[in-house]
Amino acid sequence: MQHSLPEQDLDAVREILLASIAAADSAEALESLRIAELGKKGRLTQLMRSLGSMEPEARRSVGAALNAIKTDVAAAIEGRKTALMDAALDARLMDERLDVTLPVRPEPRGAIHPISQTIDEVIAIFGEMGFTVAEGPDIEDDWHNFTALNIPPEHPARQEMDTFYLPGEADRPRRVLRTHTSPVQIRTMLESPPPFRIIAPGRTYRCDSDATHSPMFHQVEGLVVDECTHMGHLKGCLIEFCRAYFRIDDLPVRFRPSYFPFTEPSAEVDIGCTRAGGDLRIGHGDDWLEILGSGMVHPRVLANCGIDPGRYQGFAFGMGLERIAMLKYGIADLRTFFESDLRWLRHYGFAALDVPSLVAGSTP
Ligand code: DAH
Repeated sequence: MQHSLPEQDLDAVREILLASIAAADSAEALESLRIAELGKKGRLTQLMRSLGSMEPEARRSVGAALNAIKTDVAAAIEGRKTALMDAALDARLMDERLDVTLPVRPEPRGAIHPISQTIDEVIAIFGEMGFTVAEGPDIEDDWHNFTALNIPPEHPARQEMDTFYLPGEADRPRRVLRTHTSPVQIRTMLESPPPFRIIAPGRTYRCDSDATHSPMFHQVEGLVVDECTHMGHLKGCLIEFCRAYFRIDDLPVRFRPSYFPFTEPSAEVDIGCTRAGGDLRIGHGDDWLEILGSGMVHPRVLANCGIDPGRYQGFAFGMGLERIAMLKYGIADLRTFFESDLRWLRHYGFAALDVPSLVAGSTP
Protein backbone atom coordinates (compact mmCIF):
# COMPACT_ATOMS: atom_id res chain seq x y z
CA MET A 1 0.00 0.00 0.00
CA GLN A 2 1.23 3.40 -1.07
CA HIS A 3 0.97 6.02 1.63
CA SER A 4 2.16 9.13 -0.02
CA LEU A 5 4.19 10.57 -2.82
CA PRO A 6 6.99 12.79 -1.66
CA GLU A 7 6.38 16.42 -2.56
CA GLN A 8 9.71 16.78 -4.28
CA ASP A 9 8.89 13.74 -6.49
CA LEU A 10 5.74 15.48 -7.64
CA ASP A 11 7.68 18.66 -8.26
CA ALA A 12 10.20 16.69 -10.30
CA VAL A 13 7.38 15.02 -12.31
CA ARG A 14 5.91 18.40 -13.01
CA GLU A 15 9.25 19.89 -14.15
CA ILE A 16 10.03 16.95 -16.39
CA LEU A 17 6.57 17.05 -17.95
CA LEU A 18 6.62 20.78 -18.59
CA ALA A 19 10.12 20.49 -20.06
CA SER A 20 9.12 17.71 -22.46
CA ILE A 21 6.02 19.69 -23.51
CA ALA A 22 8.18 22.71 -24.23
CA ALA A 23 10.53 20.50 -26.24
CA ALA A 24 7.78 18.82 -28.33
CA ASP A 25 8.42 20.02 -31.88
CA SER A 26 5.26 18.87 -33.62
CA ALA A 27 1.54 18.49 -33.07
CA GLU A 28 2.04 14.70 -33.27
CA ALA A 29 4.73 14.64 -30.60
CA LEU A 30 2.50 16.77 -28.39
CA GLU A 31 -0.44 14.44 -28.85
CA SER A 32 1.64 11.35 -27.92
CA LEU A 33 2.75 13.18 -24.80
CA ARG A 34 -0.82 14.02 -23.91
CA ILE A 35 -1.88 10.39 -24.29
CA ALA A 36 1.14 9.14 -22.32
CA GLU A 37 0.40 11.47 -19.37
CA LEU A 38 -3.26 12.41 -19.37
CA GLY A 39 -4.78 9.57 -21.44
CA LYS A 40 -6.81 6.75 -19.90
CA LYS A 41 -3.69 4.74 -19.22
CA GLY A 42 -1.50 7.80 -18.85
CA ARG A 43 1.00 8.31 -16.10
CA LEU A 44 -0.85 11.12 -14.26
CA THR A 45 -4.13 9.22 -14.60
CA GLN A 46 -2.51 6.17 -13.00
CA LEU A 47 -1.16 8.33 -10.18
CA MET A 48 -4.66 9.76 -9.61
CA ARG A 49 -5.97 6.19 -9.41
CA SER A 50 -3.42 5.32 -6.79
CA LEU A 51 -4.92 8.02 -4.50
CA GLY A 52 -7.64 5.54 -3.48
CA SER A 53 -5.17 3.45 -1.57
CA MET A 54 -3.74 6.38 0.43
CA GLU A 55 -4.37 7.65 3.86
CA PRO A 56 -7.08 10.36 3.81
CA GLU A 57 -4.57 13.02 4.87
CA ALA A 58 -2.03 12.17 2.21
CA ARG A 59 -4.82 11.65 -0.35
CA ARG A 60 -5.99 15.19 0.12
CA SER A 61 -2.60 16.85 -0.24
CA VAL A 62 -1.30 14.57 -3.01
CA GLY A 63 -4.68 14.75 -4.77
CA ALA A 64 -4.61 18.55 -4.76
CA ALA A 65 -1.00 18.58 -5.99
CA LEU A 66 -1.77 16.07 -8.74
CA ASN A 67 -4.82 18.05 -9.86
CA ALA A 68 -2.72 21.18 -10.05
CA ILE A 69 -0.13 19.31 -12.13
CA LYS A 70 -2.87 17.96 -14.45
CA THR A 71 -4.26 21.44 -14.99
CA ASP A 72 -0.81 22.90 -15.59
CA VAL A 73 0.13 20.10 -17.97
CA ALA A 74 -3.15 20.42 -19.93
CA ALA A 75 -2.65 24.19 -20.15
CA ALA A 76 0.98 23.76 -21.18
CA ILE A 77 -0.03 21.31 -23.92
CA GLU A 78 -2.65 23.75 -25.23
CA GLY A 79 -0.18 26.62 -25.10
CA ARG A 80 2.49 24.64 -26.91
CA LYS A 81 -0.05 23.55 -29.51
CA THR A 82 -0.99 27.13 -30.27
CA ALA A 83 2.68 28.14 -30.39
CA LEU A 84 3.45 25.33 -32.84
CA MET A 85 0.49 26.30 -35.04
CA ASP A 86 1.53 29.96 -35.02
CA ALA A 87 5.07 29.01 -35.94
CA ALA A 88 3.82 26.81 -38.79
CA LEU A 89 1.65 29.65 -40.07
CA ASP A 90 4.55 32.12 -39.84
CA ALA A 91 6.76 29.71 -41.76
CA ARG A 92 4.11 29.35 -44.46
CA LEU A 93 3.62 33.08 -44.71
CA MET A 94 7.37 33.58 -45.08
CA ASP A 95 7.58 30.80 -47.58
CA GLU A 96 4.65 31.83 -49.73
CA ARG A 97 5.20 35.51 -49.50
CA LEU A 98 4.28 37.39 -52.66
CA ASP A 99 7.04 39.63 -53.88
CA VAL A 100 5.11 42.22 -55.81
CA THR A 101 8.32 43.83 -56.98
CA LEU A 102 9.30 40.75 -59.04
CA PRO A 103 8.98 41.24 -62.82
CA VAL A 104 5.85 39.56 -64.21
CA ARG A 105 6.22 36.22 -65.94
CA PRO A 106 5.72 36.62 -69.69
CA GLU A 107 2.25 35.44 -70.78
CA PRO A 108 2.39 33.50 -74.01
CA ARG A 109 0.13 35.35 -76.44
CA GLY A 110 -1.49 33.73 -79.44
CA ALA A 111 -1.84 35.46 -82.80
CA ILE A 112 -4.59 35.45 -85.39
CA HIS A 113 -3.52 33.71 -88.60
CA PRO A 114 -3.47 36.10 -91.60
CA ILE A 115 -6.14 33.99 -93.33
CA SER A 116 -8.53 34.34 -90.37
CA GLN A 117 -7.76 38.05 -90.25
CA THR A 118 -8.43 38.41 -93.98
CA ILE A 119 -11.73 36.52 -93.69
CA ASP A 120 -12.74 38.88 -90.84
CA GLU A 121 -11.83 41.93 -92.90
CA VAL A 122 -13.73 40.68 -95.97
CA ILE A 123 -16.80 39.85 -93.86
CA ALA A 124 -16.67 43.28 -92.21
CA ILE A 125 -16.58 45.09 -95.57
CA PHE A 126 -19.34 43.09 -97.24
CA GLY A 127 -21.28 43.10 -93.98
CA GLU A 128 -21.45 46.89 -94.22
CA MET A 129 -22.97 46.45 -97.68
CA GLY A 130 -25.69 44.17 -96.33
CA PHE A 131 -24.23 40.76 -97.15
CA THR A 132 -24.60 37.81 -94.78
CA VAL A 133 -22.28 34.82 -94.51
CA ALA A 134 -23.29 31.46 -96.02
CA GLU A 135 -21.56 28.11 -95.70
CA GLY A 136 -21.39 24.81 -97.51
CA PRO A 137 -19.57 21.49 -97.06
CA ASP A 138 -15.93 20.95 -98.06
CA ILE A 139 -16.92 17.54 -99.45
CA GLU A 140 -19.27 18.28 -102.32
CA ASP A 141 -20.95 16.20 -104.94
CA ASP A 142 -20.26 16.51 -108.61
CA TRP A 143 -23.60 18.17 -109.28
CA HIS A 144 -23.20 21.10 -106.83
CA ASN A 145 -19.50 21.63 -107.65
CA PHE A 146 -19.85 21.39 -111.45
CA THR A 147 -23.08 20.48 -113.22
CA ALA A 148 -25.43 22.95 -111.51
CA LEU A 149 -22.85 25.68 -112.20
CA ASN A 150 -23.19 25.00 -115.90
CA ILE A 151 -20.04 22.87 -116.06
CA PRO A 152 -21.40 19.66 -117.61
CA PRO A 153 -19.34 16.44 -117.75
CA GLU A 154 -16.62 16.71 -120.44
CA HIS A 155 -16.51 20.50 -120.02
CA PRO A 156 -12.85 21.60 -120.24
CA ALA A 157 -13.19 23.64 -117.01
CA ARG A 158 -13.34 20.33 -115.13
CA GLN A 159 -9.81 19.45 -116.25
CA GLU A 160 -8.47 22.88 -115.33
CA MET A 161 -9.66 22.47 -111.74
CA ASP A 162 -7.38 19.49 -110.88
CA THR A 163 -10.12 17.93 -108.79
CA PHE A 164 -9.59 15.60 -105.83
CA TYR A 165 -12.17 12.83 -106.28
CA LEU A 166 -13.30 10.69 -103.38
CA PRO A 167 -13.45 6.93 -103.94
CA GLY A 168 -16.63 6.13 -105.89
CA GLU A 169 -19.60 4.52 -104.20
CA ALA A 170 -22.05 2.62 -106.39
CA ASP A 171 -25.24 4.04 -104.89
CA ARG A 172 -24.34 7.69 -104.54
CA PRO A 173 -23.25 10.54 -106.81
CA ARG A 174 -19.52 11.02 -107.23
CA ARG A 175 -18.08 13.18 -104.45
CA VAL A 176 -15.23 15.68 -104.68
CA LEU A 177 -13.34 18.05 -102.41
CA ARG A 178 -14.87 21.32 -103.59
CA THR A 179 -12.59 23.02 -106.10
CA HIS A 180 -14.11 26.45 -105.45
CA THR A 181 -16.67 28.10 -103.14
CA SER A 182 -19.13 28.51 -106.04
CA PRO A 183 -21.24 25.47 -105.01
CA VAL A 184 -22.33 27.53 -101.98
CA GLN A 185 -24.18 29.73 -104.52
CA ILE A 186 -26.17 26.67 -105.59
CA ARG A 187 -26.91 25.57 -102.02
CA THR A 188 -28.02 29.10 -101.10
CA MET A 189 -30.37 29.38 -104.07
CA LEU A 190 -31.89 25.95 -103.39
CA GLU A 191 -32.44 26.68 -99.72
CA SER A 192 -34.80 29.66 -99.85
CA PRO A 193 -36.45 31.98 -102.37
CA PRO A 194 -34.64 35.10 -103.69
CA PRO A 195 -33.49 37.80 -103.07
CA PHE A 196 -29.97 36.79 -101.97
CA ARG A 197 -26.99 38.78 -100.85
CA ILE A 198 -24.39 36.44 -99.43
CA ILE A 199 -20.68 35.85 -99.22
CA ALA A 200 -19.21 32.42 -98.55
CA PRO A 201 -15.62 32.28 -97.32
CA GLY A 202 -14.10 28.83 -96.91
CA ARG A 203 -11.60 26.13 -97.78
CA THR A 204 -11.17 24.87 -101.31
CA TYR A 205 -8.99 22.10 -102.74
CA ARG A 206 -7.05 21.44 -105.93
CA CYS A 207 -4.42 18.86 -106.75
CA ASP A 208 -1.62 21.37 -107.27
CA SER A 209 1.37 22.48 -105.20
CA ASP A 210 4.09 25.09 -105.78
CA ALA A 211 4.99 28.62 -104.60
CA THR A 212 1.65 29.97 -105.86
CA HIS A 213 -0.57 26.88 -105.46
CA SER A 214 -1.45 24.86 -102.39
CA PRO A 215 -3.65 21.72 -102.41
CA MET A 216 -5.82 23.42 -99.80
CA PHE A 217 -6.48 27.13 -100.03
CA HIS A 218 -9.29 29.59 -99.34
CA GLN A 219 -11.74 31.51 -101.44
CA VAL A 220 -14.61 33.84 -100.82
CA GLU A 221 -17.64 33.61 -103.02
CA GLY A 222 -20.25 36.34 -103.45
CA LEU A 223 -23.79 36.14 -104.79
CA VAL A 224 -26.45 38.79 -105.26
CA VAL A 225 -29.80 37.90 -106.85
CA ASP A 226 -32.76 40.25 -107.08
CA GLU A 227 -35.34 41.46 -109.55
CA CYS A 228 -33.36 44.31 -111.03
CA THR A 229 -29.70 43.53 -110.49
CA HIS A 230 -27.37 44.62 -113.25
CA MET A 231 -23.73 44.99 -114.20
CA GLY A 232 -23.64 48.45 -112.59
CA HIS A 233 -24.32 46.85 -109.20
CA LEU A 234 -21.56 44.33 -109.78
CA LYS A 235 -19.09 47.06 -110.65
CA GLY A 236 -20.07 49.40 -107.81
CA CYS A 237 -19.93 46.63 -105.25
CA LEU A 238 -16.54 45.27 -106.31
CA ILE A 239 -14.91 48.69 -106.72
CA GLU A 240 -16.08 49.54 -103.22
CA PHE A 241 -14.71 46.28 -101.89
CA CYS A 242 -11.27 46.67 -103.52
CA ARG A 243 -10.84 50.22 -102.22
CA ALA A 244 -11.99 49.35 -98.71
CA TYR A 245 -9.89 46.20 -98.49
CA PHE A 246 -6.66 47.80 -99.73
CA ARG A 247 -7.53 51.04 -97.92
CA ILE A 248 -6.89 53.24 -100.95
CA ASP A 249 -9.83 55.57 -101.65
CA ASP A 250 -9.10 56.09 -105.32
CA LEU A 251 -7.54 52.72 -106.15
CA PRO A 252 -7.94 52.19 -109.92
CA VAL A 253 -10.15 49.16 -110.64
CA ARG A 254 -10.58 47.68 -114.11
CA PHE A 255 -13.12 45.15 -115.42
CA ARG A 256 -11.73 42.96 -118.17
CA PRO A 257 -13.98 40.66 -120.26
CA SER A 258 -13.42 37.02 -119.41
CA TYR A 259 -15.13 33.66 -119.41
CA PHE A 260 -16.62 31.51 -116.64
CA PRO A 261 -19.22 28.82 -117.36
CA PHE A 262 -21.48 30.10 -114.55
CA THR A 263 -21.59 33.78 -115.54
CA GLU A 264 -22.54 35.67 -118.68
CA PRO A 265 -21.09 38.16 -119.28
CA SER A 266 -17.99 37.47 -117.17
CA ALA A 267 -15.30 39.88 -116.06
CA GLU A 268 -12.00 39.62 -114.30
CA VAL A 269 -11.19 42.45 -111.95
CA ASP A 270 -7.77 44.11 -111.96
CA ILE A 271 -6.42 46.74 -109.60
CA GLY A 272 -3.79 49.37 -110.35
CA CYS A 273 -0.21 48.72 -109.34
CA THR A 274 3.42 49.45 -110.13
CA ARG A 275 6.16 46.90 -110.52
CA ALA A 276 9.10 49.31 -110.54
CA GLY A 277 12.36 47.53 -109.79
CA GLY A 278 10.64 44.18 -109.26
CA ASP A 279 8.80 45.65 -106.26
CA LEU A 280 5.02 45.29 -106.43
CA ARG A 281 3.06 48.23 -105.08
CA ILE A 282 -0.73 48.40 -105.07
CA GLY A 283 -2.19 51.76 -106.05
CA HIS A 284 -1.66 54.21 -108.88
CA GLY A 285 0.73 53.12 -111.55
CA ASP A 286 1.07 51.95 -115.07
CA ASP A 287 0.31 48.30 -114.46
CA TRP A 288 -2.59 46.02 -113.52
CA LEU A 289 -2.95 43.08 -111.20
CA GLU A 290 -5.77 40.55 -111.46
CA ILE A 291 -7.45 39.84 -108.15
CA LEU A 292 -10.84 38.25 -108.76
CA GLY A 293 -13.38 36.73 -111.14
CA SER A 294 -16.97 37.86 -111.51
CA GLY A 295 -19.96 38.09 -113.79
CA MET A 296 -23.74 38.12 -114.15
CA VAL A 297 -25.14 34.78 -112.99
CA HIS A 298 -25.79 32.60 -116.04
CA PRO A 299 -29.56 32.14 -116.64
CA ARG A 300 -29.00 28.39 -116.79
CA VAL A 301 -27.51 28.42 -113.25
CA LEU A 302 -30.60 30.26 -111.95
CA ALA A 303 -32.86 27.80 -113.76
CA ASN A 304 -30.90 24.84 -112.33
CA CYS A 305 -31.88 26.15 -108.89
CA GLY A 306 -35.53 26.61 -109.78
CA ILE A 307 -35.28 30.41 -110.11
CA ASP A 308 -37.01 32.09 -113.06
CA PRO A 309 -34.28 33.87 -115.06
CA GLY A 310 -37.00 35.95 -116.75
CA ARG A 311 -37.75 37.56 -113.42
CA TYR A 312 -34.47 37.42 -111.49
CA GLN A 313 -30.94 38.39 -112.36
CA GLY A 314 -27.84 38.48 -110.26
CA PHE A 315 -24.10 38.82 -110.10
CA ALA A 316 -21.46 36.63 -108.55
CA PHE A 317 -17.78 36.80 -107.81
CA GLY A 318 -15.02 34.66 -106.38
CA MET A 319 -11.52 35.38 -105.17
CA GLY A 320 -8.57 33.69 -103.54
CA LEU A 321 -8.08 34.79 -99.94
CA GLU A 322 -4.38 33.86 -99.74
CA ARG A 323 -3.78 35.98 -102.80
CA ILE A 324 -5.38 39.13 -101.40
CA ALA A 325 -3.72 38.51 -98.01
CA MET A 326 -0.29 38.15 -99.69
CA LEU A 327 -0.82 41.39 -101.60
CA LYS A 328 -1.95 43.40 -98.59
CA TYR A 329 0.50 42.05 -96.04
CA GLY A 330 3.54 41.45 -98.25
CA ILE A 331 3.70 37.68 -97.84
CA ALA A 332 5.87 36.22 -100.59
CA ASP A 333 5.25 32.46 -100.60
CA LEU A 334 1.81 30.85 -100.45
CA ARG A 335 3.15 27.67 -98.86
CA THR A 336 4.21 29.54 -95.70
CA PHE A 337 0.51 30.00 -94.79
CA PHE A 338 0.25 26.29 -94.01
CA GLU A 339 3.67 25.39 -92.63
CA SER A 340 2.63 26.17 -89.03
CA ASP A 341 5.96 27.90 -88.37
CA LEU A 342 5.45 29.86 -85.15
CA ARG A 343 8.12 32.42 -86.08
CA TRP A 344 6.16 33.15 -89.27
CA LEU A 345 2.90 33.39 -87.33
CA ARG A 346 4.45 35.73 -84.76
CA HIS A 347 5.68 37.93 -87.58
CA TYR A 348 2.59 37.96 -89.80
CA GLY A 349 -0.11 37.18 -87.20
CA PHE A 350 -2.50 39.73 -85.74
CA ALA A 351 -3.38 40.66 -82.18
CA ALA A 352 -6.55 38.91 -81.11
CA LEU A 353 -8.53 42.02 -80.35
CA ASP A 354 -7.75 43.98 -83.51
CA VAL A 355 -11.04 45.10 -84.94
CA PRO A 356 -10.89 45.27 -88.73
CA SER A 357 -11.22 48.84 -89.88
CA LEU A 358 -14.14 49.64 -92.13
CA VAL A 359 -12.82 53.00 -93.14
CA ALA A 360 -11.64 52.96 -96.74
CA GLY A 361 -8.44 54.83 -97.36
CA SER A 362 -7.33 55.08 -93.75
CA THR A 363 -3.88 53.75 -94.55
CA PRO A 364 -2.32 52.41 -91.33
N1 DAH B 1 -15.11 29.82 -109.08
C1 DAH B 1 -14.11 30.60 -109.79
C2 DAH B 1 -12.73 29.98 -109.57
O1 DAH B 1 -12.57 29.22 -108.68
C3 DAH B 1 -14.09 32.03 -109.30
C4 DAH B 1 -15.32 32.75 -109.73
C5 DAH B 1 -15.33 33.47 -110.88
C6 DAH B 1 -16.47 32.71 -108.97
C7 DAH B 1 -16.45 34.14 -111.32
C8 DAH B 1 -17.60 33.39 -109.36
C9 DAH B 1 -17.59 34.10 -110.55
O2 DAH B 1 -18.72 33.36 -108.66
O3 DAH B 1 -18.70 34.76 -110.94
O4 DAH B 1 -11.84 30.29 -110.30
